[in-house]
Amino acid sequence: MAKTKTVWYCTNCGNEYPQFLGRCPACGEWNTMKEMTVEPKKGAAGTKGVAKAVSTERKPLRLKEIDYSKEERINLGMPEVDRLLGGGMVPGSLVLIGGEPGIGKSTLSLQIPLCARELATLYVTGEESARQVKMRANRLSGSGNGGEVQDNISLYCETLIDNVIAEATESRPGLMIVDSVQTMYTESVDSAPGSVSQIKEVAAMLLRFAKETGVPVILIGHITKDGFIAGPKILEHIVDVVLQFEGENRGSYRILRSIKNRFGSTSEIAVFEMTGVGLREVANPSELLIPLHGEGLSGAAICASLDGTRPLLFEVQALVSSAVYGTAQRSATGFDYRRLNMLLAVLEKRAGFHLAAKDVFLNMAGGLKVSEPAADLAVVAAVLSSNFDFALPEDVCFAGEVGLSGEIRPVPQTDRRVAEAARLGFKKIYVSSFEKLPKVEGITVTKVADIPELVKKLFK
Ligand code: TYD
Ligand code: MG
Repeated sequence: MAKTKTVWYCTNCGNEYPQFLGRCPACGEWNTMKEMTVEPKKGAAGTKGVAKAVSTERKPLRLKEIDYSKEERINLGMPEVDRLLGGGMVPGSLVLIGGEPGIGKSTLSLQIPLCARELATLYVTGEESARQVKMRANRLSGSGNGGEVQDNISLYCETLIDNVIAEATESRPGLMIVDSVQTMYTESVDSAPGSVSQIKEVAAMLLRFAKETGVPVILIGHITKDGFIAGPKILEHIVDVVLQFEGENRGSYRILRSIKNRFGSTSEIAVFEMTGVGLREVANPSELLIPLHGEGLSGAAICASLDGTRPLLFEVQALVSSAVYGTAQRSATGFDYRRLNMLLAVLEKRAGFHLAAKDVFLNMAGGLKVSEPAADLAVVAAVLSSNFDFALPEDVCFAGEVGLSGEIRPVPQTDRRVAEAARLGFKKIYVSSFEKLPKVEGITVTKVADIPELVKKLFK
């Protein structure tokens, strides 16, 4: 008879080891090992390496003969989500929604069937009780998000994935939502729910189910706080689509980003606002992120940025004041702190601004996080505007990278940024002098080669 053995697994990333380790080699966390006994699998011995056909139902098909009349898509009732998926959800696809706890994954996945009233949905929850889900559904219903009709949704509180699949195979819902992959388990794998092997197996079973029955499945997965991805990273290879929820927990904006899509383009984003009654789709994020105040406030500059393939205009705010303490303070919210220091050094060295004795605070409006170098030019403009206490005209915006020698470098897809700025009513955009751009109606493209030239053109 096979012996019961013990293994150690990391509670942070789920990797398994035969002995205790102080530090997990996979994720680098200390003191996360837990011991677990593993029961031997019944009848598992001796099956390895034997290739025997289990079922002969499926056969290879000729590519030519495969029926592909019209690509069918399921409308999820939320236009932004449909757009992100490439025009609706493909039948039989497995979509993973990843994100930190509390960001709104459960809210979004409950809002989908509330909006798509025709879609018979099986909502499987392993995290919350039926009452909790009902309470949330009521909260979401009152707002025109979904409506009072909830009879297309069946709720199933279960964590054993085999039961879930058996139920769904019988009832054949139009959509199945599983919240979350970390709470589901199968008895055919001998480790705790949430471990790497369980997560892989659960996802593989759901994929098989989706492909065989054509039922689309939305799977929710948590990502740990420090950015180390416990489950979803290994799932990315298995699932068809990965949507990642991002955003400050405190801020009200949430960005849903498509990072893998077998049926559409990636690096698309959808923006949502978390309200008291659920998520609200923001069809035109730029308009929200641009302030309504008129001219006259110094320290603000609009950046024409690009998030994925989507142009996004937002306000960069800077405050430059004399340092109160001996050492000047620098703070950057939503922007790389080291990059801010670099830009300040460039301003000091290449353009002769004495900022070493000044406190500099930088903020990206709306709680956005910006990693694009194209925001450099707007940051520099905002800092200079605050430094001179000179307000920039409200109808100008910026898109350019600042190099170490103070030169303004070109950025990708400037034409899209210019087009979006023109659409939103901006009259002038500052870009690198190396850009080659066709003329766009209604907006002047001003090219600048370096910071001294920018200063000359902005603050004559
Ligand atoms: P939730 O969907 O439970 O997060 P996740 O499933 O990703 O862990 O969202 C939880 C947060 O959203 C919680 O902090 C409360 C907030 N929230 C609202 O602000 N308004 C609402 O209508 C709902 C349902 C949640
Ligand atoms: Mg949840």
